[in-house]
Amino acid sequence: MKKVFFLIIAVAFSLPVVADEGMWLLPLLKQQKFPEMKELGLKLQDYDIYSPDSASLKDAVVIFGGGCTGEIVSPDGLLLTNHHCGYGSIQQHSTLEHDYLTDGFWAATRDQELPNPGLTVTFIDKIEDVTDYVLKNLEMDTDPTSMNFLSPKYLNGLAKEKAGEKFLQDNPGMEVEIKAFYGGNKYYMFTKKIYSDVRLVGTPPSSIGKFGADTDNWMWPRHTGDFSVFRVYADANGNPAPYSETNVPLRPKRWFKISLKGVQENDFAMMMGFPGRTNKYYTSWEVAERRDIDNDVRINIRNLRQQVMLDEMLKNPEIRIQYSSKYASSANAYKNAIGSNWAINKRNFEQVKREEQDRLIEWSNLNNESAYPEALLTLEQIVSDRKDLRFRRWMLDEALVRGIEFSGVPTDVKQMCDALNGKDRAEQQKQLLLLERAYLRFADKNYSPEVDKKIAKVMLKEYRRLVAPKAQPDYFSIIDKKFKGNVDRFVDFIFEKSIFGSESNFNNFKAHPSVKALEEDPMILFAKSIQKEKAVLTEALKDFDDSYNLAHRTYVKGLLAMYKDKANFPDANFTLRLTYGQVKGYSPRDCDYYGCQTTLDGVMEKEDSTNWEFVVPARLKELYNIKDFGRYGMADGKMPVAFSATTHTTGGNSGSPVLNAQGELIGINFDRNWEGVGGDIQYLPDYQRSIIVDIRYVLFIMDKYANASYLLNEMDLVE
Ligand code: ARG
Ligand code: GLU
Repeated sequence: MKKVFFLIIAVAFSLPVVADEGMWLLPLLKQQKFPEMKELGLKLQDYDIYSPDSASLKDAVVIFGGGCTGEIVSPDGLLLTNHHCGYGSIQQHSTLEHDYLTDGFWAATRDQELPNPGLTVTFIDKIEDVTDYVLKNLEMDTDPTSMNFLSPKYLNGLAKEKAGEKFLQDNPGMEVEIKAFYGGNKYYMFTKKIYSDVRLVGTPPSSIGKFGADTDNWMWPRHTGDFSVFRVYADANGNPAPYSETNVPLRPKRWFKISLKGVQENDFAMMMGFPGRTNKYYTSWEVAERRDIDNDVRINIRNLRQQVMLDEMLKNPEIRIQYSSKYASSANAYKNAIGSNWAINKRNFEQVKREEQDRLIEWSNLNNESAYPEALLTLEQIVSDRKDLRFRRWMLDEALVRGIEFSGVPTDVKQMCDALNGKDRAEQQKQLLLLERAYLRFADKNYSPEVDKKIAKVMLKEYRRLVAPKAQPDYFSIIDKKFKGNVDRFVDFIFEKSIFGSESNFNNFKAHPSVKALEEDPMILFAKSIQKEKAVLTEALKDFDDSYNLAHRTYVKGLLAMYKDKANFPDANFTLRLTYGQVKGYSPRDCDYYGCQTTLDGVMEKEDSTNWEFVVPARLKELYNIKDFGRYGMADGKMPVAFSATTHTTGGNSGSPVLNAQGELIGINFDRNWEGVGGDIQYLPDYQRSIIVDIRYVLFIMDKYANASYLLNEMDLVE
């Protein structure tokens, strides 16, 4: 007995104590982390940050769009987020005549603020632990292989039942959602209020908001003013409503005060936001799988695709506007995969996870818990068995589904064919109109058939080189049969013959629609064949996925049982979290040290007027030269731009408010260093840094650069 006791003590003390790790759930914060936060310097009470029954700082934090965070900074619903989060909206409003991407945009009055159909802002009204409720319902589910415990459809059904039909009817814009945590060992319900009239108020030019672009992306030291400004509108009662001229600025429950005091190394910093996805509970086998399949395929394929895209963008400004957003998001995940593999190899994540597994096995043996070691065996087996299928799935996804845009043409033409076979002229016209609409959704203003064609040629060659012929979509057989293996001719043929290949092809079809043309359309056949292969792979992987989910839940349950009182945070799942740490620089390699604060001096050092990524706008240079930094400069006379902190963040945290010990806004999170992206699997205190635009730079750009000081009048600035 004594021996066992000492062993447990020894195990407990050998646990790595990792400072600043964690994406914490607000309802657990007080119990899990508040004392440590106080120790680090926090001046607030726990209920200032999160209180279940009254307004608190968390009420000023929102989901911006579908994958970013934003924060409310005025009593009139003014919102800050990143430039790269507002990018899609800014791009939508940009034309060659009004190129807001290049020149920036500032609404001088409220009626100049630009609506963005489809863009939403989501507030989290309430967070409840509903584990017992969900588990009770799941008990009635007698199928041991049921995936209901993770099914959004099932869980959201339960959420609706719990909230009640009436509640949802009485509260326009309200939605409820239950999400699984710790692999399905715990459940929380979120009551959300979703506003759909969100207007663009202002944005700096890309030469500020995206300064350094893809070269600097995921890099520190950084000099990007990555912010944009929006405003949330509501109906006269303050409720969510679709865009209307009669809507009024939202009167929010809370907004952040803004600090002009700046930061010093080692200052306390925290942020709230919506981290999207992490894999902290990977086993060692999944780490290797991620590196050797997922990341490797992504790196290889995107590299090829981006080269083609960039060539075209540099040749033609119209293509540059069309493809800038697509290129940026492709390059972003590409560079992340590179950083992820660096960390996996360099920091030996396989070993780190293996040690955790071994600890669990040892603990399980001592405690007669056989389920956990069994779950580990299952996970090892699954990863080994699904290897080929997973490779095929990643190749299909990266090279063909995401890679080739025309694999997304409308394929559901049955009703169109039926109408053509029938005699009803009106029905034929209606179906034609529907098809045209679907075509235009695909070939929207950001689509270039020429670019797609060039990319498709490269993608298909690489796909055919790496995937066994038998395992390719069946339509590809005609490449050999009809085109003697010549991919270029195959792709040219597709564009020449398809009704979706060009506008004139589509117009010809409209003039002479025929069933035969639709049935033989090579783009439709191509797209269908890819859908079919995707379905085959999904089906083949389903058994693996299901048993994986069950074993993963058990494994995480084991870890929670073993670590019992140690605070553990669940993997990110795009729910509201808090992370805290310190403002800090880092040393990425021997003898190299990066400070925690960048300044406008660095912007000027990076300036390169011959490289679009590093052009500095004339007005910014002028302000720099006359040192007109207003109240935003630092004591040493320099103008701050960005800072770095040890906070644990991931994709989705973009736009997150970064707060000082008093809970005042000191910056907007926008990136991580590439040495830190491995933190999605394993946090590394010495390597991982959040990259944050200094709020003083944001205000300086609004006030001094853009002459939009009227916007500052509605904010609470704290000197
Ligand atoms: N790396 C940041 C994030 O993951 C910024 C991405 C946008 N910027 C870019 N150059 N692609 O989302
Ligand atoms: N830029 C990322 C985002 O859009 C945040 C960087 C990260 O992954 O930490 O959410």
